[in-house]
Amino acid sequence: MAFDLVFFGGTGDLVWRKLMPALFQAFRHGSLPEGGRIIGVGRENLSDAQYRQNIQAKFAKVEGEKRPSSEEFARFAALLCYVRMDLSRAEDYAALRNRLEERETDTVVMYLSTAPTLFTTICEQLAASSLNTARTRIVLEKPLGHDLASNRAINAVAGKAFKEQQIFRIDHYLGKPSVQNLFALRFGNALFEPLWRREHIAHIQITIAEELGVEKRGSFYDGTGALRDMVQNHALQLLCAIGMEPPINTHADAIRDEKLKVLRALKRWTPETLGQHVIRGQYAAGTVDSQAVPAYRDEPGVNPSSHTETCVALRTEIANWRWAGVPFYIRTGKRMAAREAYIEISFRPAPHEIFRAPAGQVNKLVIHLQPKDGLELHLLATGQSKRGPGAGAQALAPVHLDLDFDKRFGSERVGAYERLLLDVLDGRLNLFVRSDEQEEAWRWVEPILQHWATDPVGPRPYNAGTWGPSASSAMIARDGFCWREES
Ligand code: BG6
Repeated sequence: MAFDLVFFGGTGDLVWRKLMPALFQAFRHGSLPEGGRIIGVGRENLSDAQYRQNIQAKFAKVEGEKRPSSEEFARFAALLCYVRMDLSRAEDYAALRNRLEERETDTVVMYLSTAPTLFTTICEQLAASSLNTARTRIVLEKPLGHDLASNRAINAVAGKAFKEQQIFRIDHYLGKPSVQNLFALRFGNALFEPLWRREHIAHIQITIAEELGVEKRGSFYDGTGALRDMVQNHALQLLCAIGMEPPINTHADAIRDEKLKVLRALKRWTPETLGQHVIRGQYAAGTVDSQAVPAYRDEPGVNPSSHTETCVALRTEIANWRWAGVPFYIRTGKRMAAREAYIEISFRPAPHEIFRAPAGQVNKLVIHLQPKDGLELHLLATGQSKRGPGAGAQALAPVHLDLDFDKRFGSERVGAYERLLLDVLDGRLNLFVRSDEQEEAWRWVEPILQHWATDPVGPRPYNAGTWGPSASSAMIARDGFCWREES
């Protein structure tokens, strides 16, 4: 299949760090369709050869097996070319069209990895230059807008230029093998389904913690914050995967319809729940991985009196028959104690205890998303066969089954961006977000943004290298539960 893949923002960080390495892996493993061209678009004046050299220089910094040999890079580089464009100039789109018309292709992918403020201009210009043909697909990187209105505006313009089936809205979490396994766990196995409901589940925690700070993205992040950067998209997608009803098949719309129902059923905020159930924090100086790190406000590009949140912890519910009354806790933050993403499902205790169970120990299913990818099933067993004090008493002790997907599937696994890029080329929309789904997620976070805009309290400080502000622990403790690391 001959394709042209055009990267708007072709000299940007995402292209260097994620997209090119992902394409290279696909190329190396023979999964990239033959006959492709990868066209970087940027403002700089570069020749094809210079663009290739720049990419080669970035690849040289890649460590270990993922770094291409010079022979491999030479073969990959043959796919790369560059077009200089000022994205507001119609003539430059004509130049791109000429480049695309140099040869026959089955598919043209326009991948927008620029600042989202340029998305509407690019979509309008593509349409004005007839670059929105039936064989064109458009990929929109997150964040898609900064609130509901701006998201709708982008979707409206994109929707005018392209049909919904041509629009691929990326949430790279959906491309992670661990997240696909979450769908497989739920819909490829019948074991948990009877238990997957309010009668058996006491509460669910979703944590996406990062050790990194804002790196070089201070000014972008300061206008964004953790709610828009992580909760509105990645965390809510995980919540949907956990909370949705089984789709009737694996077609994109069958899956997306079910996710949308979850988002629509999220409990609406009241002034009271907004105050009590949504905690925002901002990191102060601290120590991460034995290294002293500065406070958020001292990071380059950040306003020294910034009120931007670098951590969010919240409690919500899915108001439907399956989940009514079950708290879902979401927590995400930068400069936290560890890089760790997991979902913990805590089951209700046995209805009638005949053994002595250790306090607070219940059955749990922990779905590890990263860095570890696997499942832990926590059970209680009797340690009766042990000798020593207390032997003979019918006491229970915690034990767990541990499944390590990295060990099981190892190097056969495809990375998130590689998976998603291949899906775009294949026209598979399952792992992409539909406009109504995305708007619903914005609709749900909007009252939080509005509340914060006028809330004099501001984000609560937490020391870098910890699990966030103490108010986050207090919030969950009010329900009689605690975060995983506190149990
Ligand atoms: C991105 C956010 O979407 O996800 C970043 O913009 C964040 O701020 C990143 O660091 C986390 O992704 P991952 O795959 O490293 O968990």
